[in-house]
Amino acid sequence: MSVAAANELLTATSPPGTAAVRVAGVTKTYGTGDSRTVALKAVEFEARPGELHLVIGPSGCGKTTLLSVVAGTLAWDSGEIEVLGTRLNGMKDSALAAFRGRHIGFIFQQFNLIPTLDLVENVSVPLLLNGVRRAVAERRAAEVLARVGLAEKARRRPKDLSGGQQQRVAIARALVHEPRLIICDEPTSALDSRTGHTIMELLADIARTPGRCVILVTHDPRTYGFASRITEMEDGRVRQEFSGQAIQDFIATHH
Ligand SMILES: Nc1ncnc2c1ncn2[C@@H]1O[C@H](COP(=O)(O)OP(=O)(O)O)[C@@H](O)[C@H]1O
Ligand SMILES: [Mg+2]
Repeated sequence: MSVAAANELLTATSPPGTAAVRVAGVTKTYGTGDSRTVALKAVEFEARPGELHLVIGPSGCGKTTLLSVVAGTLAWDSGEIEVLGTRLNGMKDSALAAFRGRHIGFIFQQFNLIPTLDLVENVSVPLLLNGVRRAVAERRAAEVLARVGLAEKARRRPKDLSGGQQQRVAIARALVHEPRLIICDEPTSALDSRTGHTIMELLADIARTPGRCVILVTHDPRTYGFASRITEMEDGRVRQEFSGQAIQDFIATHH
């Protein structure tokens, strides 16, 4: 496959007007008896293409659980989940894994880079998993590394990089296969203020790509100003959702 053909394959667009993510009445319980925790209580949530959608709320309110059910890595009890126009209910694990590998990029607090691989090899992984030839994958990985400002480090190992640079590699890896949904769990928590700001600018820019949606879980108030929309969770429920001027008002009252 040529680079052009690989790029074309990887940039299929969603039908117009489709929500990127639709979660309807989803409940998720962990454990049984005394250790039973209801982590999601009939959650309603919708994320749109072209938006950086923050999910905020105190530790333990269910943010990571919500991301996990949307990513199809965690089974839920009841309710409906639709991602990029595909209904996840009733999908087999193997189909979910293929769907996730093709359409979702992940960024976590821990960068999860492979220490024995250089940056190009790390960033190539999602393409190799999607069946792209190594030479093509590495050329494309190098392009995306350049896009996050790491062209000169392409053949270095993760240990030669700062935390902020490692997170940029993780972002390049999350983007390399042009997924339409990027899921981030506390991506700035391990970074200092200035580095976190740079990472948020990059993610906000990525979210502006037509047809692409970034959902970002955080409890870091410094990220709020980058949001297109914010969903605030509390004890397994959605407390409120807001956008536009309401975000500025929220920031003003929470600082
Ligand atoms: N694997 C698990 N087993 C049991 N309880 C869990 C598990 N994961 C999360 N929980 C519980 O579910 C609730 C929501 O957790 P989580 O989604 O991780 O919240 P957040 O990401 O907002 O901190 C918490 O009470 C947490 O202790
Ligand atoms: Mg969490």
